[in-house]
Amino acid sequence: MPSGTGLFVTFEGGEGAGKSTQIRRLAEVLRARGHDVVLTREPGGSPGAEAVRHVLLSGAAETFGTRMEAILFAAARNDHVEEVIRPGLSSGKVVLCDRFMDSSRVYQGVTGNLESEFIEALQRVAINGIVPDCTLILDLPAKAGLERARRRGAAGGHAGPDRFEKEELETHEKRREAFLDIAAREPDRCRVIDATRAEDVIAAEIVEVVWQRLAHPAAAKVAEAAHE
Ligand code: TYD
Repeated sequence: MPSGTGLFVTFEGGEGAGKSTQIRRLAEVLRARGHDVVLTREPGGSPGAEAVRHVLLSGAAETFGTRMEAILFAAARNDHVEEVIRPGLSSGKVVLCDRFMDSSRVYQGVTGNLESEFIEALQRVAINGIVPDCTLILDLPAKAGLERARRRGAAGGHAGPDRFEKEELETHEKRREAFLDIAAREPDRCRVIDATRAEDVIAAEIVEVVWQRLAHPAAAKVAEAAHE
């Protein structure tokens, strides 16, 4: 099995889709049901990757171009995979990660205008065989997501939008479409979650999807292999 004996679940989607809230809620439910859960995020999640996170989100790397940013995301991801994700999966844990490889495909690949061959080559090195068992794509119109992200920023007293939040609405819409394209191409791994609904309704659907994967991880992997 590519990701060891545990279960690797990633959350993806645009800004303000509620990923952080939902991933926390899922972790609580799984822990209450007796699972050993690692809750992590990207960019970051390991000391090496957290050091790179600030460089990326502050916009300090922006002047060096999207290629440089993509390589930095990949460097951070590889450190995170080898230091946190792979060890967690090897010891049978459920690893929940807020953003992972699909964010690079979408943000750096599609809206960063980098060739998909370049992105996929970087990904191979970054993930080194660790592919998510299940990816939940939280989907909502870009405008609604940005409004939520801005409200959250103001309420939390944040300094302002980060490097990626600052971009135009049109760019955010393109990202939404790109996430939906990934889900359409990889239906066994990905599940689109309608994030316009009430928080409790979304949380219940996510628990159900992940619970199924925990009950039948092998079946999901066989289906994936047959699809390739
Ligand atoms: P973060 O503050 O963690 O917020 P959120 O996930 O709630 O949006 O910001 C992460 C930002 O980094 C986000 O705008 C997406 C971007 N990003 C990429 O561009 N590429 C990547 O590979 C990853 C993991 C994130």
